[in-house]
Amino acid sequence: MTKPIVVIGSYNTDMVVQAPRIPTPGETILGGTFSMVAGGKGANQAVAAARCGGAVSFIARLGDDMFGHQAIAGLKADSIDTSHVACLPDVASGTALITVSEDGENAITVASGANALLMPDAIETADSMIAEAAIVLTQLETPLETISALVDRCAAHGVPLVLNPAPALPLNEAIFSRVAVLTPNESEAELLSGVPVTDLESAKRAGEVILAKGVKTLIITMGGDGALLFEDGSPTMVPSFTVDPVDTTGAGDTFNGALCVAISEGKSWAEAVTFANAAAAHSVTVLGAQPSAPRRADVDAMVQTHTA
Ligand code: RIB
Repeated sequence: MTKPIVVIGSYNTDMVVQAPRIPTPGETILGGTFSMVAGGKGANQAVAAARCGGAVSFIARLGDDMFGHQAIAGLKADSIDTSHVACLPDVASGTALITVSEDGENAITVASGANALLMPDAIETADSMIAEAAIVLTQLETPLETISALVDRCAAHGVPLVLNPAPALPLNEAIFSRVAVLTPNESEAELLSGVPVTDLESAKRAGEVILAKGVKTLIITMGGDGALLFEDGSPTMVPSFTVDPVDTTGAGDTFNGALCVAISEGKSWAEAVTFANAAAAHSVTVLGAQPSAPRRADVDAMVQTHTA
């Protein structure tokens, strides 16, 4: 039987407005179309992994409200195991307000709601599932004490943990040597290293500082340029794919979900990062976080454009 990819994290319903640009503080601008779509970094990663062919189990907390019930239906439609997704009373499901500019950039404000109630007991309850996982993936949109409990359980079971340190938050130094793969973007790498990341050379310097904390494999995602892979300590830039961006929301999440599928299939690091780059590049061509997560055939076809 295929071992599952276990994703622990947030689910948000995203309220998205496309606008000419992102407003500055105090400014009102007239935007374009409004859309309400499924999002949340954890759920986006779970959906991306499932659409890339992974057998995915998701651990999350929702409110017992319309958004929570829609969330479960959506996850099930993507064949994700939701036996550890609970709808809690007296709390709202997570929501995010997102402005997407004409050049595809975004600004996001999250109301965590039930995501803030994903506590360590959720990890204890799912312990046997975590023990059986091929790989575990998480991010930082749920309480840090739960991430710490997860780090402990993955270490105890010898299951590799991929930590996407998003959104950027300072981390307990003890965590670094206990994750198998760390996947910050440029601003997260800057926060974790203290090195301003402005280009490839500064990303390499930031990476060296993070590696010195004990991280085994580090991948710094660099948007449309690709991802800087540190394998056995040495950096390689794995280039991305050229696309016309419509909306970059969730591209990092798609990268992480796809990466876990590729790792669990035994691809080499360079192949896995190329696969994840292709998935992320495909996702930015479509509006919305989960609506943009590509299917396996689309990712494979994009990878072929590099190797053809
Ligand atoms: O990474 C994108 C996600 O961040 C959005 O879907 C939003 O919900 C926030 O969690």
